[in-house]
Amino acid sequence: MSETAMVKEADSVEETYQRMKAKLEGVVPDFELQLKAELAFQINQLKRERNAVILGHNYMEPALYHSVPDYVGDSLQLSRISAETDADIIVFCGVKFMAETAKVLNPGKIVLIPDQQAGCSLAEGVSVEDVRALKERYPGVPVVTYVNTYADVKAESDYCCTSGNADKVIAHIMAQGYKKVIFLPDEFLARNTAREMGIPFVLSSLCGGDDSALVNLDQAVIGWKARCEVHEKFTVDDVLNARKQFPDVVILAHPECPPEVIELCDVSGSTKAMVDYVRDIDAPRYLLLTECSMGDNLAAEFPNREMVRLCSLRCEDMALITLEATLEALQKTQYQIEIAEDIIQRARLPIDRMIAIR
Ligand code: 13P
Ligand code: SF4
Repeated sequence: MSETAMVKEADSVEETYQRMKAKLEGVVPDFELQLKAELAFQINQLKRERNAVILGHNYMEPALYHSVPDYVGDSLQLSRISAETDADIIVFCGVKFMAETAKVLNPGKIVLIPDQQAGCSLAEGVSVEDVRALKERYPGVPVVTYVNTYADVKAESDYCCTSGNADKVIAHIMAQGYKKVIFLPDEFLARNTAREMGIPFVLSSLCGGDDSALVNLDQAVIGWKARCEVHEKFTVDDVLNARKQFPDVVILAHPECPPEVIELCDVSGSTKAMVDYVRDIDAPRYLLLTECSMGDNLAAEFPNREMVRLCSLRCEDMALITLEATLEALQKTQYQIEIAEDIIQRARLPIDRMIAIR
């Protein structure tokens, strides 16, 4: 688990600025750092006064990522922290489905998301009605939902998973004798995981696919058609061009990328897996095929690592979470995540099952 204690204890704006500068000089322009240090100082003061914990996803902009979160990480790490924290308020610097997961895991806490428009194309790509229709079409087949879904969809599922444990969750289900799983909603994560595990993939006919092969298949992952509007944009040409310019580059891609891109990359994994790789494995240079801020965050975290900065893809939803919005969230106790009690109860089981699979 990454814990950022960098500016937590700073007791002036100047000290906050100096600590941020030590990390972010060369990544964030100085005039911007000065403004952000002022905000970060106020946030950290308020955080202490209100007994709040701030969780920051790896995609947060560098000035936020390196200043106010008590913990940074991927979806799975932050879910685990949410379940265990005894702070009164959880401020989730990430997107709405992540904050919802925190609320489901720790319903007694006030969970805040700094901007309530921070959605996700995957979470919006599947509805409760879709899941019910899939269960009717494939009776008895367990449903695995990616954590990038809203709580009402999780409530209809048997297991949850993240990009960090999709293979483990599918293997766990199949070890209980099931031969097929429904995997929602990310088509590419499902295809990439199925390929890695050597299991055939079939796109459900309920979203325009052809599932006629299912009757003849011993095992199968049945997928849905939603995609991440950021990762789907990476192309084979991006990989080929990067390798042409930097033949010694190690390319790491998030498994939400298209399968033909993943096949050409050196490593595929969750955002945590990418952080771990860059920290632990020596390479001449690294290229991340994922949300753009992450490359900057790692460049700042590991100044002796060379990050190739070829990407310009930002997740517009993640970008809504700024230091300004985070300060306002703490000042006004906004925006509170509210989920109906019965949905919390039902969504908890698939998440707990996931967390129990190590
Ligand atoms: P991680 O779980 O790998 O952090 O990914 C979340 C996400 O939204 C990727 O686009
Ligand atoms: Fe959703 Fe893609 Fe943004 Fe991740 S990067 S939050 S999957 S839209």
